[in-house]
Amino acid sequence: MFALNFNNPAMHIFYGKVALIAYLKTIKIANSTIGFVPTMGALHKGHLALMQRSLKENDDTVVSIFVNPTQFNNPEDLDKYPRTLDEDVKKMRGLSDKIILYAPSTEDIYEGNTVSQSFNFDGLENQMEGKFRPGHFNGVGTIVKRLFEIVNPTNAYFGEKDFQQLQIVKKMVEKNHLPVNIIGCPIFREENQLAMSSRNERLTSEERKEASIIYETLTEAKEIFNTKSIEETIQFVENSFKDNPRFDLEYFVIADESTLIPIDYKSKDKNYRAFIAVFVNSIRLIDTISLN
Ligand code: PAF
Repeated sequence: MFALNFNNPAMHIFYGKVALIAYLKTIKIANSTIGFVPTMGALHKGHLALMQRSLKENDDTVVSIFVNPTQFNNPEDLDKYPRTLDEDVKKMRGLSDKIILYAPSTEDIYEGNTVSQSFNFDGLENQMEGKFRPGHFNGVGTIVKRLFEIVNPTNAYFGEKDFQQLQIVKKMVEKNHLPVNIIGCPIFREENQLAMSSRNERLTSEERKEASIIYETLTEAKEIFNTKSIEETIQFVENSFKDNPRFDLEYFVIADESTLIPIDYKSKDKNYRAFIAVFVNSIRLIDTISLN
């Protein structure tokens, strides 16, 4: 068995898919469930909450840690993305020694052909992150589909911070008839309400503190949206960032929650959501809030 145990005989760590698939075959019994939490590592409490939920709801839980090159449109972002495998393993061990970790190499996933498949997500891919990060969702679709083929999970857990990603994964599963339930989980926030993200690691403590402006602005925008017009809401958010030299607003969008298409009028029977992307120096942070 090609599994390394880092001194803990109970925690299984696989670096190659062949050994992982063989191991999963040995533990899978009729009707048993596998929960799956795909991550890019640099684990924070939000990731651990997804794992906790998977551990509770499934017989076995697989976590993947793989910084997927095909979903990065910016080489500097890929280069600087935190890689903290030893720390991550410690955090997972602190949670449960039942977690099965898959931490593959790029070769193990892409087999010498590190390119994305091209997907049609019925237009979900053309909004927000898709607009500002060309090719991003083809990369996400490619890796998530590949990981699903390897792990063959019953349930897969995704955070709602990446709400567009969550909708896109659901769409991919539906269109490809993949036998997996996609479960969206609430955003985990730091004490100052900054949405937890692996990218927060790259902020200075001052930037991290001041980044509370993102969620503060979203909650105020929600109030404005429910009493005033869409234009006034957008204007408020743009003004909040205009005079703040530390932050650079990339987009603020109010969209229909199911189609992700930006709205120009409100309808009573629809669910709406606000989405924001902000740069702090070169570090890009996103957040979202339901407006209903
Ligand atoms: O959300 C992430 O961390 C990544 O996009 C994912 C789903 C692990 C795919 O690389």
